[in-house]
Amino acid sequence: MTARADFNDRMLSLGLARVAEQAAIATVNLIGRGDEKAADQAAVNAMRQQLNLLDIAGVVVIGEGERDEAPMLYIGEEVGTGNGPGVDIALDPLEGTTLTAKDMPNALTVIAMGPRGSMLHAPDVYMEKLAIGPGFANDLVTLDMTPRERVTALAKVKGCRARDITVCVLERPRHEDMIAEIRSTGASIRLITDGDVAGVMHCAEPNQTGIDMYMGTGGAPEGVLAAAALKCMGGQIQGRLIFRNDDEKSRAAKAGITDLDKIYSRDEMVTEDVIFAATGVTTGSLLAGIKREVGYYTTETLLMRSKTGSVRRMTYRNPTH
Ligand code: FBP
Repeated sequence: MTARADFNDRMLSLGLARVAEQAAIATVNLIGRGDEKAADQAAVNAMRQQLNLLDIAGVVVIGEGERDEAPMLYIGEEVGTGNGPGVDIALDPLEGTTLTAKDMPNALTVIAMGPRGSMLHAPDVYMEKLAIGPGFANDLVTLDMTPRERVTALAKVKGCRARDITVCVLERPRHEDMIAEIRSTGASIRLITDGDVAGVMHCAEPNQTGIDMYMGTGGAPEGVLAAAALKCMGGQIQGRLIFRNDDEKSRAAKAGITDLDKIYSRDEMVTEDVIFAATGVTTGSLLAGIKREVGYYTTETLLMRSKTGSVRRMTYRNPTH
């Protein structure tokens, strides 16, 4: 392994895009086939194979689960050739397994890479999340505020009424009270059935997506991936880990987390410059899904670097074999 200073995000970024692309392509025959597990496994296999071609000494810090639960891309798994910089990797080979199985919008393959030690080792538990786009004062909205207070604060600064604000929320019974409170302000809610990495990313481009804020509880791994995305695109996210039982608390201990109530800011979840790649599996508001034509597949990938703030959209045409 070479020195940590050798994290050359510019050189590594194209390799990362390839990893996301190949994971997406691997799911092509499983889109709309009703088999979530098979779709996820195909993406995992391809992502792992591609990662192992990269000249990095990588460690999966956000992955498919604990070592004994996930045969591949588990938390702590070493990936890459070992000849290169030490890096942390956060990944979700298929974000939206149900969306893929049902051929519903916004399924993505997602991966982020930063220097070793730069990402929160979030255990596989839930996280309460709150996100807004770029251009606002830090902590304009916080997890300690009520949903009503958040909507009101954002509307005030935007110079609009609460009813002009749209909040994205995962449709889950646990969110019923929060949804009722948001609606009581007059704000609109865009409900999503799955895929909160994309949900949070929508806040970064409110003019295109129509979404001003993201609120609610979803996977903690997805929270760190969303923080990596917003570090590149701009925007704020806060996250608080939720531990529902002793088993989940022991996961925190294993991950070295001692303050169970801590609210993590975006830059506490991802502390250094990061690269982020996502490829569309099914077409959504962020990315086009895989397009099948006779003889080839076409994918669209978002590739971003926080160091430069650069955002690339790449179309890749790949012959079918
Ligand atoms: P999978 O792709 O692993 O199925 O996750 C989809 C997802 O919707 C995430 O985006 C979200 O963070 C999480 O599941 C929410 O968990 P739950 O379905 O348990 O509410």
